[in-house]
Amino acid sequence: VLGRRAVLALLPLLLVATVAAQAGSGPASGGGDPFFPGAGNGGYDVRHYDVRLAYLPPRSLPGRGRLGPSTASIDAVATARLPSLSLDLVGLRVDRVEVDGRRARFRREGRELEVVPSAPIEAGARFETTVRYRGAPRPLTDPDGSEEGWLPGHSGGAVAVGEPIGTATWLPCNNEPSDKATFSLRIAVPERGLGRRLRAVSNGRLAGVDRRGRRAVWHWVASRPMATYLATVAIGDFRVEKRRAGGVPAWFAIDAGLLRRGPATRSLLRRGIRAVGPALRFFGRLYGRYPFEAAGTTVVDGPGAKLEYALETQTRPTFPGPPRRSLIVHELAHQWFGNSVTPRIWPDIWLNEGFATYSEWLFRERHGGPSARSVFAKLRRRPPSERFWNPPPGRVPGPRELFAGSVYVRGAMTLEALRLEVGDGIFFGILRGWAQRNRYGNVSTAEFAEFAERRAGRQLDALFDRWLLEPGKPGGGAGAGAPARVAARR
Ligand code: TRP
Ligand code: ZN
Repeated sequence: VLGRRAVLALLPLLLVATVAAQAGSGPASGGGDPFFPGAGNGGYDVRHYDVRLAYLPPRSLPGRGRLGPSTASIDAVATARLPSLSLDLVGLRVDRVEVDGRRARFRREGRELEVVPSAPIEAGARFETTVRYRGAPRPLTDPDGSEEGWLPGHSGGAVAVGEPIGTATWLPCNNEPSDKATFSLRIAVPERGLGRRLRAVSNGRLAGVDRRGRRAVWHWVASRPMATYLATVAIGDFRVEKRRAGGVPAWFAIDAGLLRRGPATRSLLRRGIRAVGPALRFFGRLYGRYPFEAAGTTVVDGPGAKLEYALETQTRPTFPGPPRRSLIVHELAHQWFGNSVTPRIWPDIWLNEGFATYSEWLFRERHGGPSARSVFAKLRRRPPSERFWNPPPGRVPGPRELFAGSVYVRGAMTLEALRLEVGDGIFFGILRGWAQRNRYGNVSTAEFAEFAERRAGRQLDALFDRWLLEPGKPGGGAGAGAPARVAARR
């Protein structure tokens, strides 16, 4: 039985490949994500983004900063013959596009930048697209009402967070979670803006700061595969400190305004930062070695900052203010689940949020808090009538519910239900094996169910169907039953 199902598990992969190849034959736009069909593009696979941004702060506050002449060079491999190709880009002005050093025609079409190279790119060819652009990036409002993309920061700075599709507000890219690439980001900032010192923080390690006259170019390198939604830029009056955390070089960027706010804020910040090393070590032991070359946190704040939530931006999570320990732990757990192991499509978001939330429970249970089992038992007593249970985490109805509470909490409960079913030994083997086998890769819910079954050596459909798909409280009698099955979607 398991053998046949293993074959079925490969089907979605083949389908994805076919769709991508078909899309590549036209001006391939839209990667086909069920929740964000316009984002992403078929026909090529990005290997590396080389980004140079020239940031110009606003002259007064409130005001938005702008990008002066900036470039993005996108190194990619064609997966089909490409007479034309598309990149995702929202707003901004494109001055020039080149493909392999030759000027290319281009056209803006909604949230796409369509590029027609001087000659078609052959399938399998490696090619480099360079986009020169500028303008004032604007944030996007998500279906759930939250703001993402390039957000105004404090003191004339900015902070860019991109989950799920905001990165296209400042970078022409293939904006789908399955096209990971390495990044080099050089951000030029005036040393002072509006009387404040400005610094620029991004993903990965700081390769250098090049000071030229009154400008400084901050060069950050993310040398492990990264989904575009995890790219970040934070510009502001940060204090940037390098130290080691969990055996990894770590940069901590903290808004200077927060540091001036007084001893209570400072001790909150210190407590948070002190949790980074232990959390990285804890998850490293549990899930396997930390997957990235750098770590740290970026904490933004201050008048005018528009960031209202934390994000697990790769290697260096971004926080809207001094984070509680549980939030730090959550975003660090995402480095394994979400950033290294990434859903192929957004409807599988519980593979990020359920795992990160469950990781918080594990951290607490091993650090003097209540056990995951007791947290689960308590939640399990909530009545079927409560909204708490919906939507089922494996069946998020649309992008508006992407970050619904149930995706986090019922997602985490699914993992505890699995643990209770298979026992600690097998369960922790599943988590670790999942993180290791899919390192830097993309995954689906069906693949997780399949993987867990293999490790457990038995069928677990009933458990996954019930916890991930059944509307209302699992086994609680509410809702109209659950005809869909995790297995059937393979
Ligand atoms: N991934 C974030 C987390 O750490 C959640 C998130 C991203 C989010 N965008 C959001 C939450 C918008 C609320 C609103 O959980
Ligand atoms: Zn999360």
